[in-house]
Amino acid sequence: MAINMEGLQRFLAMFLALLLVVCVTLASDSKTKDKTRLLVVTVATNETDGFNRYMRSAKKYGYDVKVVGMHQPWKGGDVLNAPGGGQKINLLKEALKEYKDEKNLIIMFTDSYDVIFTMGQDDVLLHFKGMEKNLVFSAEPFIWPDESLAPDYPQVEAGYPFLCSGMYIGYAPYIWKALTWRDITDDGDDQLFFTYLYLNQVKRKNWRIGLDNKAVLFQNMNGAHGDISIRFQNNNSVIFNNKYETNPAVLHGNGRSKTMLNNFGNYLAYHWTPEEGCVACEEDTFSLANVTEDDFPPVLVALFIEVPTPFLDDFFDQVEALDYPKKKIDLFLHNQPKHRLNRVARFVKKAKEMYRSVKLYSPAKNLTEEQGRNKGLQHCNDLKCDYYFSWDADVRLTNPKTLQLLIEQNRSVIAPIARKEGKLWSNFWGDVNRDGFYSRSEDYVDIIKDYKIGLWNVAFISSVYLIHGSKIHAPHTPTFEIDDMDPDMALCKQLRDKGVFMYATNMHYFGYLVVTEYCETEHLHNDLWEIGSNRKDWERHFIHPDYYKAAEPGVEVKQACPDVYTFPIFTEEFTTKLIEEMEFFGQWSSGTNEDQRLAGGYENVPTRDIHMRQVDYERHFLYFLREFIKPVCEKVYPGYDSRAHAIMNFVVRYRPDEQPALRPHHDSSTYTINVALNTHGLDYEGGGARFIRYNCSVVGLEKGHLLMHPGRLTHYHEGLRTTKGTRYILVSFIDP
Ligand SMILES: *[C@@H]1O[C@H](CO)[C@@H](O)[C@H](O)[C@H]1NC(C)=O
Ligand SMILES: *[C@@H]1O[C@H](CO)[C@@H](O)[C@H](O)[C@H]1NC(C)=O
Ligand SMILES: *[C@@H]1O[C@H](CO)[C@@H](O)[C@H](O)[C@H]1NC(C)=O
Ligand SMILES: *[C@@H]1O[C@H](CO)[C@@H](O)[C@H](O)[C@H]1NC(C)=O
Ligand SMILES: *[C@@H]1O[C@H](CO)[C@@H](O)[C@H](O)[C@H]1NC(C)=O
Ligand SMILES: *[C@@H]1O[C@H](CO)[C@@H](O)[C@H](O)[C@H]1NC(C)=O
Repeated sequence: MAINMEGLQRFLAMFLALLLVVCVTLASDSKTKDKTRLLVVTVATNETDGFNRYMRSAKKYGYDVKVVGMHQPWKGGDVLNAPGGGQKINLLKEALKEYKDEKNLIIMFTDSYDVIFTMGQDDVLLHFKGMEKNLVFSAEPFIWPDESLAPDYPQVEAGYPFLCSGMYIGYAPYIWKALTWRDITDDGDDQLFFTYLYLNQVKRKNWRIGLDNKAVLFQNMNGAHGDISIRFQNNNSVIFNNKYETNPAVLHGNGRSKTMLNNFGNYLAYHWTPEEGCVACEEDTFSLANVTEDDFPPVLVALFIEVPTPFLDDFFDQVEALDYPKKKIDLFLHNQPKHRLNRVARFVKKAKEMYRSVKLYSPAKNLTEEQGRNKGLQHCNDLKCDYYFSWDADVRLTNPKTLQLLIEQNRSVIAPIARKEGKLWSNFWGDVNRDGFYSRSEDYVDIIKDYKIGLWNVAFISSVYLIHGSKIHAPHTPTFEIDDMDPDMALCKQLRDKGVFMYATNMHYFGYLVVTEYCETEHLHNDLWEIGSNRKDWERHFIHPDYYKAAEPGVEVKQACPDVYTFPIFTEEFTTKLIEEMEFFGQWSSGTNEDQRLAGGYENVPTRDIHMRQVDYERHFLYFLREFIKPVCEKVYPGYDSRAHAIMNFVVRYRPDEQPALRPHHDSSTYTINVALNTHGLDYEGGGARFIRYNCSVVGLEKGHLLMHPGRLTHYHEGLRTTKGTRYILVSFIDP
């Protein structure tokens, strides 16, 4: 019996399995017989950047979009700031009439300038059918344009309560009914039109009209910022609504949420993924690699010196080094400060021989920054330039390919990301607040630090950017003057309002920003004072490249005499500029014992000199001692902990007819540095230092090299006679 039972069970099991197979087959049969298909439709009169983004996302998810109204004049009003959009309905009526009887057709309408698809049509159909309605509108937390209608809405337990006409879906006959339930003028309000339909209880019930309150399909972002986030999954990103735990398939940056949509758009629809990086960066680009010079697009390169700027020579060098045919460049320069006029004039003179044309607005023209920048745009418009490349003097583009790379990226507006060395300050903002001021996007730091590499649609750019000519030519020429807004903020506001995308790219290293805030203007060579604010540039210009070897632990430092160490410290540029600076200042001391610069008013071993303090360089020089001298001192005199402090820092001038030598003496220092500022045998003859106890002389120390020696007791020393020319040395009595 037991055996029979087992057989029966086996039979039953087989039977059930068979049944299952039949059912599944039937089910899939009925699925293929399910003839419902989806048509996506949008109204767009213009191929804006937002429209292209929409079409791109549609393509990524395999939607075939019917675009209605392209290139027709728009009569639906300024829908960003006022009611409008009736024209959308009238255009749709015309375009969708042919489908009005197709019961198996589901039509999904979405706006396009501020919409992105985040899922494919299988998900859309599944969710729509799950709602068991004939027509579903998207929902949002705000009521617009008529707040007084709020009490007429049905109560919802949870979800966004109010209708938004930017997205809806339904069976074609019901879409048709909805579009035609009344007449509307082109400048009527489409949202109000559908709101009245939805608030009509009879129609709502009979036509089975619903709102997607929980954003199962449609997510309107305005007022829902806190509810949504991006999640990366399966090599792509999806929108997650944390409040209602849904994954909406279409995202709408309505109202004031455009910059947030732009930020999300940097990731959605395979724009950027953690696995692949920036997928979109390779799309819609072109190459100038095989284009002959004659066929390069003409560019207006507009340079702006709006404030005194350190290391201006580097700026001009980089402009010249830009890898782009100069005959295709028209140059524009607005120079506001009166600082370094000769240098600017020299650049302009040379430029006139190299570029297609050069236009200069000098300080004599007395233009404000806004006016200067407007002149630049105007000039681009006058020349019908293909591209406008705006470049401020505080941007160091060390990558000469920058201009080409930006053009090849083929975007309306694009800025190469540049930041202040070691700081989070850069030339773009990920987000702006309501007043148009800086707001940090969640990904800002990741981008600035190159943790994320790509092409980022951002809310604000400045300092250096490329604008496509079509965004500048009349009548679209933007202005830098809006009320008392900062000029860059004014420009970006207009571009945002027009829906022009501003990209910032870190696909390559382009360069960095120098700090202009502390730029000195009173000296001959103001860059010498930049040690604290632009340390890297200062080092590159002024610290001898071989210094770093001497500073390395374990590398032996040369001894010129017992305990007298010597190593390279300054570049030729530094020594030349320091001498010129001191001669420019010119107030050499008398070389007598009377010295009002000293606390006691008396100098025991006087020289002809100028103290660093007299040229306002002491603070800078002490910083130099701490950063560059202290480490080597502690290396060659182990166990000594230097404070690297000095009261006496000065440049000495020896001349046969002035003061040629210095008698034997001790220094008032624990140790002294003595730097040769010019060249023995060329600039002067004789000279040198002699350490008496060792009868050891150092003559002809190389320019830019120094001697470091103990100041007292063992290192009693003298300055040897300069017999011809002028010898300059820099001396510092450290740890007195
Ligand atoms: C579309 O936008 C472009 C550029 O912003 C502009 O030139 C054109 O007039 C616009 N067309 C319509 C129909 O709005
Ligand atoms: C991820 O998506 C990209 C872009 O659509 C595709 O080319 C790539 O093969 C995918 N990678 C993986 C690992 O699935
Ligand atoms: C440049 O971008 C536009 C879209 O903004 C696109 O239509 C065009 O095809 C692109 N050009 C190239 C050469 O890819
Ligand atoms: C440029 O031309 C070279 C040689 O004909 C070819 O190998 C290369 O692929 C071309 N590059 C581009 C970007 O078209
Ligand atoms: C320069 O312009 C400002 C205002 O833009 C004006 O106040 C000033 O007088 C002008 N200076 C000269 C020298 O023209
Ligand atoms: C010191 O050195 C010089 C040459 O190096 C030599 O001529 C002189 O005799 C030395 N003097 C003493 C006192 O050793």
